Amino acid sequence: MTQAPTTPPAASDSSAPKGLEGITAGDTTKSRVDGVNGKLFYCGYPIEPLAEEGSFEECVYLLWNGELPNAAQLESFTADLRRESTVPSEIWDVLRPLVKGSTQMDLLRTAVSAMSAFDDEVADTREAIDGRDEIERRIANRLQARISTLVAGIYRLKQGQKPIAARDDLTYAANFLYMVTGEEPGEYEERIFDAALTLHADHGFNASTFSARVTAATEADIYGAITSAIGTLAGRLHGGANMRVMRMLEKVGEVDKAEAFVDDVLSQPKGRVMGFGHRVYKVEDPRATVLRRMAKELTDRTGNSKWFDMSVKIENRVKDKKGIFPNVDFYSASVYGSLELDPEIFTPIFAVSRTSGWLAHVLEQHADNRLIRPRANYVGHGERDYVAKADR
Ligand code: SDX
Repeated sequence: MTQAPTTPPAASDSSAPKGLEGITAGDTTKSRVDGVNGKLFYCGYPIEPLAEEGSFEECVYLLWNGELPNAAQLESFTADLRRESTVPSEIWDVLRPLVKGSTQMDLLRTAVSAMSAFDDEVADTREAIDGRDEIERRIANRLQARISTLVAGIYRLKQGQKPIAARDDLTYAANFLYMVTGEEPGEYEERIFDAALTLHADHGFNASTFSARVTAATEADIYGAITSAIGTLAGRLHGGANMRVMRMLEKVGEVDKAEAFVDDVLSQPKGRVMGFGHRVYKVEDPRATVLRRMAKELTDRTGNSKWFDMSVKIENRVKDKKGIFPNVDFYSASVYGSLELDPEIFTPIFAVSRTSGWLAHVLEQHADNRLIRPRANYVGHGERDYVAKADR
């Protein structure tokens, strides 16, 4: 016999908006997302010159240290990353039996978790010991260096190929493309990809970054925090959107079918066109502005304007029908597609870049930590008497 529902207790206090929309959950010095004016700053620097004139290595240094590196600092930091780029061979052994039944993001999540077993410094960081921050800096270097090798190697395992080791004469961006394809990229392709990495590096308390901070705030170690973040990024409402944008373009097939496709998606209840909308930006995502320009440039160079022309048609239709704008994932799909990268690697690429932001936030959280533990507004049954099984 089920009991009639009892009235829940009076609401303990006013509950935050669904999805914590509009709630400021803490302070950070890493990036400022200006959703009203459509601007993004890393440690005070607008992302446009960082992406178009700087390098991803400079961007990572900035996020971790709060200042742009001078030439000597950049050289030393770049050498640190290069020195740590080799993934323990046991990790590939762990992954091989899982390749068939896992996505690349699943494999990446598993790999990062497993890597803690091969890091003999991580155990010390689980207690509040003196000098933990220096140890965590070294771990951050290792993770940032290896995440690129891992993503490229996992892609190759999925293709039935062997992972390729990084070279010590290539930039971070060029090394990634080399480790994926086995060929050194052209200067222009390297430049574009480097800029795309910078554009994806950090973005306030987005879901995966906040997930990393919540994990780090329990004083769990860096590997646990980044594993949480990878699991969170994979969702289609977050980092998983860029791959789905490419799949959408492939499904639309022809430029003149783009508008009908959008109309069909929007006609469905809760229909969502991947790559559009944003919880914070109420105008165009400034990263989409840069990526659109990059996609157009790539199109002009390759002469193959199909994906770009289709994207513009889709963008205009969504704007006309819903008044919403493309986010970072929409044109990144055209850029990666024009670089002839497989859509299945798009979200892992997002993780390569965003690992720099996640690590910046984990270091920031640990530097001035307090457990992140919000309240819940209970709306279930009121107090009631236990009913013996025989009487149910
Ligand atoms: C990233 O947070 C970050 O900073 C994330 C990120 C980062 O750098 O870390 O910027 C990266 O994750 C970008 C977002 C990638 N995801 C997508 O492209 C998936 C498609 N987008 C939507 O699911 C949505 O826009 C979200 C998830 C991005 C934002 O969701 P919200 O704030 O919860 O908004 P919502 O879903 O409640 O939409 C509000 C209204 C809707 O009204 P209803 O239909 O529910 O009544 O806006 C419309 C919709 O009408 N809308 C869309 C839409 N997004 C919003 N309509 C069609 N297609 C969409 N994509």
